[in-house]
Formats: sequence, structure tokens, C-alpha cells
Amino acid sequence: MAVAIDPTLSPYFQGNYAPVQEETEVTDLTVVGEIPAALRGIYMRNGANQAFPPLGAYHVFDGDGMVHAVYLDEGQARYKNRFVRSKGLEVEEEAGHALFGGLANFTFPAPEVMERAGMMKNTANTNIIRHGGRYLALMEAAHPTEIDRELETIGEYTYGGALHGSMTAHPKWDPATGELVFFGYSPFPPYARYHVADASGTLTRSVDIELPRAVMMHDFVMTSRHVVFFDLPAVFDVDAMMKGETGIRWEPEHGARIGVMPRDGDNDDIAWFELDPFFVFHFMNGWDADDTTVVVDGSRASRMPVVFGDDVLTERVFPTLHRWTLDLASGMVKEEQLDDRPGDFPRINAHREGSVNRYGYLATVDQVTDGPVQFTGVTKYDTTTGTSVTHAYGTDVDAGEAVFAPDPDGNAEDAGWLLNFVYDRPTGTSALVINDARDLGAPPVATVEMPRRVPFGFHGNWMPERD
Ligand SMILES: [Fe+2]
Repeated sequence: MAVAIDPTLSPYFQGNYAPVQEETEVTDLTVVGEIPAALRGIYMRNGANQAFPPLGAYHVFDGDGMVHAVYLDEGQARYKNRFVRSKGLEVEEEAGHALFGGLANFTFPAPEVMERAGMMKNTANTNIIRHGGRYLALMEAAHPTEIDRELETIGEYTYGGALHGSMTAHPKWDPATGELVFFGYSPFPPYARYHVADASGTLTRSVDIELPRAVMMHDFVMTSRHVVFFDLPAVFDVDAMMKGETGIRWEPEHGARIGVMPRDGDNDDIAWFELDPFFVFHFMNGWDADDTTVVVDGSRASRMPVVFGDDVLTERVFPTLHRWTLDLASGMVKEEQLDDRPGDFPRINAHREGSVNRYGYLATVDQVTDGPVQFTGVTKYDTTTGTSVTHAYGTDVDAGEAVFAPDPDGNAEDAGWLLNFVYDRPTGTSALVINDARDLGAPPVATVEMPRRVPFGFHGNWMPERD
């Protein structure tokens, strides 16, 4: 089993970034307020939760996947957490210690370990989705890992052998067709591949995307007719990585490119727009404004805001909400800042994915500090009125991504609730905080007390009892 880790090894082993070792399940959680009766389903959230002391320098993206889930039914709540039992974690558990290096200090594991679990651990630590009846834990450099409704690991999922290469942790679900649209990138030419799975979960399309070089492409954009790839200069150097050197570097001299491809097109149909360098981890949404105009909103930073290996950040970098308007007729792109307040982890009502959204929800911070990112609130943007309202979760808290759960009885785009794990630093406790998205100025409708601390994580989703 997992063992305690010395917190002095990394700031990401401290505070609410510190991993938890135990796997637990608790029913009849204490609720302050009232869980809406219409909120029936599962909130699952994934994150990096290192099981064993690392072999060397630890990177915040390295940890083993751990899914925390809150099952809501008739106003009652049940909590459960489980490691994603990757092949890599299995061999480490047998050995009783770490066997794999990380992003900041890549090392090959022993040959017998590589034979069983590959040269890199598929931590499956970044997101958890449900599509085609399967629950898939995702990490962008590897295949999806299927788990079941009760978080037990089934194993790597390859769409019956049809999926070649990795799958982004940010696939897009098309509410109009039920398709899952995604891509994967690789350190080898042609460096990226675009995929479509139909509503039943069958992989129906895979198309190579040619890039000039291997880049870390964390997210992308889907509209009703296009997909949009951001070729940003966070460059992979596999040879350096194999030598234990910095394998991902910010190389602004390459500039930035945005590629717009028809969803039924291929590499030859991509229209590329060139811009000065910037970096985006996460997009809010994109849509076709008319026949030749594509609009994309996302959290843009002046450069890659994290570093790997020996690289250093000379200034504090934090993303803010931006909009790109791409004119396919003229080849012109307009880039504008929508807000100057830092924020990331943008989400919308999933039923608006790919079509124009009025509302967006961004994890926001009170103040930017030198340490690890600490989100403290959620800001709701109204793009029609140009206004926003922020809900601060408290004065001394760590929050995460606010996930929108639609109200099955409501029709308005903001009819639903925002779900977020919030950690209260003074007491060291966590809660699932539920706000009515229609009225973010009001106090939460329910605060579900977690039976244990839920560490800061990456992404999650609401999985309604009935879709
Ligand atoms: Fe992400």
C-alpha cells in the first residue's frame, strides 16, 4: 500500500496538495443546507496523488491518479476514493517503493518493470469522464484507463485496439451527436492524431495531424463544424528526456499557431493562423459564429506557467480569460483579453459545448502568490451583458475546478449547480460545496462535509443518473 511521504521533498507534498494514503467509503455524509433532490448522480474528480516517495525531483503532474467521488441520491451523499491501479502502480506496490521517474527527472525503470508496465507510468491522473457507458480516467501521454462506477480499475482501454497513441485528458463531448471528439499527441512525427468516437463509444475516425515539432498540447476546441488545435511552443525533447535532462522546454522563438480543421476534414484542410507566442492549458469553449468565423475562449498566459526539470520561471505567470476570433475567409485572427483577473479551469454547461455559450465559470484566485496555485473562488461570466459575479468560498480556503451540473428540470443555460471540493485551511477539512449557478451571489445551497481531507486535484465531471 501507499506510504507516507516526507512533505519537505516538494511544495506539492504540503498543505492541500499533500497526497492521502487511505482509500475509504463513508455513507450518510453530514450536509449543511439541502442537496437539491434533482441532483442525482455522481461527482467524480481525478488528481495526482503520489503513492510512494519519488525517486527524485517530484513534478506536480507526476502523482498516481486518485478518483474522489460523491454519490448523490435523494438528498443523501456517499463519499468514496480509490487509486487508479495502473500497471505501474501495481509493480510499485509489489516492490513497496517507487520504480518510475517523473517529468522532472525521467529515468528508465528496470527492464523487468518496463516489460510489465512500460517505460513511463500511465498515472491516469488528470480527468475522469463517462462516455459510451464507460468511465475513463485520462492522462494525456497515454491510453485511457477504464474504471467502474465504484472506482475499481478495469485496465487500459484502447477502443478494442483501434486507438493508436495517446488520448488527451480534455476530449469534447458533442451534445448534438453524442460523439466524443479528441486528439492525442506524440513525441514522434507526425506528432498528433485526431479521433472521433460515436455515441456508443466506437472509434470511427482517426486522422494524422502534422506539426513541425513535438509540443505539449493539453487541450483543444470543438465547434459544431470545426476542431481547433493550438500549436504552442512548449516543446518536447525526447532525446534530452532519455538522458535525464529537461524534456519539455518553453521555446518562444517558434511562435504560436492556431489550426482550424473541419470536423470531417484532414490535415490538408487545416487553416493555420500565426501569432506571437503564448500558452493555454484550458479552453472554455468555441463556436462557429458564421460560415467563416470561429470564436474560441480560453485562459491565456504569456508563456508556459509551469517548468520541467532545470528550466526556471523568471516571473510569476498566470492566465487570464481571452478570446480568439478566427476569420477563415481573410486569414486574420483577433486576440482580445476578456478579463484581467487571473483564472483557469474554465467550464460551461456541457450541453452548450461547441455552440455559443452565454455563461462560463472560471476558477479564480484572491491573490497570486509565489507558491503553488490556490484557487479561492469561482467567477461566472455573462458574455451577453459583459458582467461577472464571483463567489468566494471563504477567507482561507483552497478550491478547485467548479463543475456545472445541469438541473434536469430547468431549461435556462445556467439552470444547474456548481460543484467544487473546497479545503478549509484552518480546520484541515474538506467539503463538497454546491452553489446554485443561477444565483452565485447567494450562499451555497449545500455544503457536504467530507469524512476526510480531499487533496487539490485536476479535473472532474458530473455524471447524472440519467443523461
Ligand atoms: Fe487540464
